[in-house]
Amino acid sequence: MGKLNLPHRLAMASMIRIRALPDGTPGDLSAEYYAQRASLGLLISEGTQPSEDGQGYNTTPGIYTEKHIEGWRKVTNEVHDAGGYLFIQLMHAGRMSHPDNTPHQRQGVAPSAIAPEAEISTPNGMMEIPVPRELSKTEIKETVEDFRKAAAGVEIHGANGYLIHQFFGENSNIRTDEYGGSVENRVRFAIEVSKAIVEEIGAERTGFLISPNAPFSKVNEGKSGSDLYCYLVEELKKLNLAYVHVMNGGDEELLHNIRTLWPNTLLVNTPGRALEDIATDIENGIADVAPIGAWALANPDFIERLNHNAPLNELDRGTFFGEGGHGYVDYPTLKK
Ligand SMILES: Cc1cc2nc3c(=O)[nH]c(=O)nc-3n(C[C@H](O)[C@H](O)[C@H](O)COP(=O)(O)O)c2cc1C
Repeated sequence: MGKLNLPHRLAMASMIRIRALPDGTPGDLSAEYYAQRASLGLLISEGTQPSEDGQGYNTTPGIYTEKHIEGWRKVTNEVHDAGGYLFIQLMHAGRMSHPDNTPHQRQGVAPSAIAPEAEISTPNGMMEIPVPRELSKTEIKETVEDFRKAAAGVEIHGANGYLIHQFFGENSNIRTDEYGGSVENRVRFAIEVSKAIVEEIGAERTGFLISPNAPFSKVNEGKSGSDLYCYLVEELKKLNLAYVHVMNGGDEELLHNIRTLWPNTLLVNTPGRALEDIATDIENGIADVAPIGAWALANPDFIERLNHNAPLNELDRGTFFGEGGHGYVDYPTLKK
């Protein structure tokens, strides 16, 4: 994949864990958490904001201050020492945010001033997500630059209802300028971000995540959804990115079309699949790599367990998000 030789075809999918330090720096526990899982080979980090505006949830990590970069350097060093690779997932939350969760406590930004009609967790409890402010064209260009500056070896989060995906949706983007309307226009911001990052760090270190028919996002790409993703993939092909990552929402025809259009590494994550189905997409020639989420979270030594046909740890949903090491770095390994 790109210039990397991955040890096998599994990978760790991106998972927010809400355990950064208060200023958004990943701390020592994060370095320990990722290093524990290094045998998964390719680790895709939790969604990480490229700017203050880009933060959606409370205590997610950022990568836009010197301290953030220092924290991430420690994480990557420990992952590399343990034999793994780390791609940071650049996630701008767009409208999926709340002023109580961001350092500047400002209104969220989005392609259009349309609320997602959802609630979000804040330090003051669950809150209705307010109507975001429409980005001006100048601000769109500034946001592209935020992504550029944050890049180091990254997955661009174009999925799950966050900013880039909000530009794709017919019901979240009603702009009348060149960022709204036609398929080409709705994909423009995604391509500008991708180009900026490729210029900054090289195509071989850049991946792009999409979630056609995302199960838990209010963003609806409309009837032109298949065309939009095929057009996007063709544009990303021109840029020669290291990988495209599809979170498979069940449109098998679109997935086949993407496989046909995309010549480089294709990652396919099918949420909630059974353990015996983990290799199906690879065996069928659809995917090159199968990222896993929940199993990697609960089993730091998932690969060793597979190799030994050993039982897997139970997943504790109660500690997905929150403080401290419990449910983060204390899932036992076989050795322990
Ligand atoms: C606790 C948790 C946090 C997640 N955070 C993210 C995220 O930051 N970015 C993202 O693209 N997907 C995120 N996901 C989705 C996972 O990457 C993955 O697609 C999903 O868990 C389905 O795969 P699985 O059945 O192997 O867990 C998250 C999932 C979980 C369980």
